[in-house]
Amino acid sequence: MEALKQKIVQEGKVLSEHVLKVDSFINHQMDPFLMKQIGEEFATRFQDKGITKVLTIESSGIGPGLMAALELKVPMVFARKRKSLTLKEGLITATVYSFTKQESNEVTISSNYIQEGDRVLIIDDFLANGQAALGLIDIVKQAGAIPVGVGIVIEKSFQNGHQLVKDTGVQVESLARIASLKDGKVEFVD
Ligand code: G4P
Repeated sequence: MEALKQKIVQEGKVLSEHVLKVDSFINHQMDPFLMKQIGEEFATRFQDKGITKVLTIESSGIGPGLMAALELKVPMVFARKRKSLTLKEGLITATVYSFTKQESNEVTISSNYIQEGDRVLIIDDFLANGQAALGLIDIVKQAGAIPVGVGIVIEKSFQNGHQLVKDTGVQVESLARIASLKDGKVEFVD
């Protein structure tokens, strides 16, 4: 997606060989116009999949997840990383280990909102080691629903997340694929 790649080049900051900072348009401040285009692009790529729900994870997945859901005209659910005061019964949980942060999080949804027969599109802002996406696929399966796609805004293709998710048989679509962050420069795949 050209507009996204341009934004990454203009505003992204390479913090190290492994980390790209994009908090001027995704992770802190959000660019609603770019998010709208991102939602349209996801909807186009998954339009023939009969999607009935979008599932994402708080917090930075919510922007692109909601825009994709709007375009696909379906509800969006976000998995919680923190315990909710009101969400107590009928919980579906997966443990997600973050290699970046070296910590495990329990991620949770209510079984009321993803149910047997749902066809679910999973959306997230970054794909690194794939653990968040795998955890969300696990949650969808526990609910008796079908994970039909994983849509990612920025994929770090030099990490193994894409392959791990692809190995589950779920279609992965990443709007910007980064081949390398070496020497302070962003290089895209093709
Ligand atoms: P994984 O799910 O693919 O295995 O990713 P990992 O554990 O490595 O990532 C943990 C957190 O760090 C996630 O956000 C992920 O989006 C983010 N992240 C990973 N690599 C980068 C990067 O190069 N740049 C930026 N900006 N973020 C990265 P999170 O902690 O869940 O944050 P949030 O969604 O609450 O903002």
